[in-house]
Amino acid sequence: MSLSDSNNKINEKFNSEEEINYLRERVRYLTQLRISLERDLEYYKQELSKLLETPYIEAMLLEVLDKDRAIVKSSTGPNLVVKIGSNVDIKKLRPGVSVALNNKGSTIVEILPNIYDPFVEAMEIDERPQLSFKDVGGLEGQIREIYEVVGLPILNPKLFKDIGIDPPHGVLLYGPPGTGKTLLARALAGEVKANFIRIVSSQFVNKFIGEGARIVREVFRLARERKPSIVFIDEIDAIGSRRMEMGTSGDREVQRTLLQLLAEIDGFDSLDTVKIIAATNRIDLLDPALLRPGRFDRIIEVPLPNKEGRKEILEIYVKKMRTKDFDIEYVAEITEGLSGAEIKAIATEAGFFAIRQKSRYVTMEHFVKAVDKVKKRVERKKQIFGMQI
Ligand SMILES: Nc1ncnc2c1ncn2[C@@H]1O[C@H](COP(=O)(O)OP(=O)(O)OP(=O)(O)O)[C@@H](O)[C@H]1O
Ligand SMILES: [Mg+2]
Repeated sequence: MSLSDSNNKINEKFNSEEEINYLRERVRYLTQLRISLERDLEYYKQELSKLLETPYIEAMLLEVLDKDRAIVKSSTGPNLVVKIGSNVDIKKLRPGVSVALNNKGSTIVEILPNIYDPFVEAMEIDERPQLSFKDVGGLEGQIREIYEVVGLPILNPKLFKDIGIDPPHGVLLYGPPGTGKTLLARALAGEVKANFIRIVSSQFVNKFIGEGARIVREVFRLARERKPSIVFIDEIDAIGSRRMEMGTSGDREVQRTLLQLLAEIDGFDSLDTVKIIAATNRIDLLDPALLRPGRFDRIIEVPLPNKEGRKEILEIYVKKMRTKDFDIEYVAEITEGLSGAEIKAIATEAGFFAIRQKSRYVTMEHFVKAVDKVKKRVERKKQIFGMQI
């Protein structure tokens, strides 16, 4: 064998080894490619099957009827009686949760996670509150006025039409915290059998930037849908403060919300059975635009109760308690300066003192201790928050 021959052989061998290596690499690469393409294929298959699936229907649970039936409000409108799927945990089916119905809409198949809905979170609907004016102590004048300007027009709009006067669109309640503003509005709704829709202004201003105006619109749409109804706007100073320089985007948002609210009030037919009641502790901060005629043009002060008022409030809460030698005059005397909410707290605290002492009755000693405790609490609050609490 010549030298060149052997060289050729070596070359050949070398070539084929290189080639083998190359081919091995290639196989490895192609295997990987295949795996990755198979993965893609699987993914697209799944996506495709998702796209072909019929959708579930979202609904809100209103009430569980028995262990396998419930009433839901479908997102398309009507209330439906549906079956409860066997794999759904019935204990978690509370009124208000979102559920998925199968595509025929006949069965609850899943409980959905709580969906963020600013509209629902910022308000609370009370269908015909089970309260009456008997539950409100010491506000006779305020009760009469709110009944005349909001209650009567709901009960009897024709009366106003015949006489030819326009009842006010809105009423504003103002006064210190805990004096019964919310209670009064609720009791009125109970008396005239109206739905009570409450929105807490500070809540949606803080939490739902960019949503305030929409929420106001939605609330009034709902109120019209559910006539007769009372829209109660709590802490209205949070959206209706006197216009400041529009510094931050938050301020501008508050402004937009206020303008929407004014537009809604202006668009009201005063003979309609939708009424607005607003409440605030800080009437001094309110934008005068809110107080113009045709808006909140009736302003009702709800002050701290006088002695007579305190007696009436005490009566409401003490009536339900088992007491001994209860001296209402005396308790009314020593609770000067306290609000209705604080007087209610005194009754509860007195009950606790009695329970702690294993007493069968709530005695004057318990009441006096309770007054002391609540007064101290009020003092502390004043120190922390200043006079404006
Ligand atoms: N005049 C009252 N008669 C009977 N109960 C009262 C009265 N005032 C307050 N209460 C009791 O105190 C609770 C709190 O009162 P309410 O929420 O109505 O006060 P408010 O004036 O709306 O206070 P805030 O300004 O802090 O919202 C009521 O649910 C009620 O139990
Ligand atoms: Mg209130």
